[in-house]
Amino acid sequence: MQTAEKPLFRFAHISDLHFYNLSWNPSQFFSKRWLGNLNLSLVRKHTFYPEGLTSLIPVFQEKRIDAVLITGDLTSTSHEKEFQLAKQFIDQLQSEKFKVFTLPGNHDHYTKNAYKNKLFYKYFDTHYTSSSDPVSSLSLKDDGIAASPMGHGWWLFALDTALATSLLSSNGYFSSELQQKLETALNDLPQDHNVILLNHFPLFANESPRKSLIRREALQNILERFPKIKLFLHGHTHRHCIADLRASHLPLILDSGSTAQKNGATWNLIDIYPQGCEVEVFTNNRQNGHVSWKPLSKSTFKW
Ligand SMILES: [Fe+2]
Ligand SMILES: [Fe+2]
Repeated sequence: MQTAEKPLFRFAHISDLHFYNLSWNPSQFFSKRWLGNLNLSLVRKHTFYPEGLTSLIPVFQEKRIDAVLITGDLTSTSHEKEFQLAKQFIDQLQSEKFKVFTLPGNHDHYTKNAYKNKLFYKYFDTHYTSSSDPVSSLSLKDDGIAASPMGHGWWLFALDTALATSLLSSNGYFSSELQQKLETALNDLPQDHNVILLNHFPLFANESPRKSLIRREALQNILERFPKIKLFLHGHTHRHCIADLRASHLPLILDSGSTAQKNGATWNLIDIYPQGCEVEVFTNNRQNGHVSWKPLSKSTFKW
């Protein structure tokens, strides 16, 4: 890769935006939302500043981003108002001609009703493309998996592994049906094509098992068997991480961290080249409510 060379694609990977709306409607006590609102009023409200996300738009314009990849947790308690706020932000990105690909996190299927009624999908697109070929016609809403051909033999794949959970857990679930669909789609791609796989949950649980992806071993097995998956992008942990696990037959694994944190927010600028990729990490600087972004580090990886 030469520095002057133009990348095939330039992506911004952001995550865990956690738009919030504090509501004390009595009906919430029949759902998990009361816990979410308690958490919001005690912690999240002081930790997150999603209003500052619009400061990303001039940076994305200056960097000439092709697409914004959002790996879930757009809301805090799956409240309609929160989805509306998240949609406003995504509409703004799209009005600036950025393609946006997103998927739900556990906070977007937070209550049993939101999960059952697939509220996330009332606000966000379920088909990544309108093509009728078997892989790209997959729907995130109905199949739990979507795929979009990006050109130059590259694909974006996204998984919906989030579900409504009990009060004190935030697990995801990689079901055997989803496993089957992902395997079939990967087998249907031409041998020399490459995939960037998006999921909300990380592959490895570094903290409580109550926050991890159930059946993660099945997903790991697929990542090991399909080297065409070059990148695995996720969120959920709110901690930025780049893990080069190719020596263990796994892809490069990138956690963008939470892009809406008041302090220490992060996101990744990802340049894809035929020979490899470059990942530049940005972090925020917040002064008097004004947010600016500065580069933290840059890493280069060859395929
Ligand atoms: Fe989150
Ligand atoms: Fe999450």
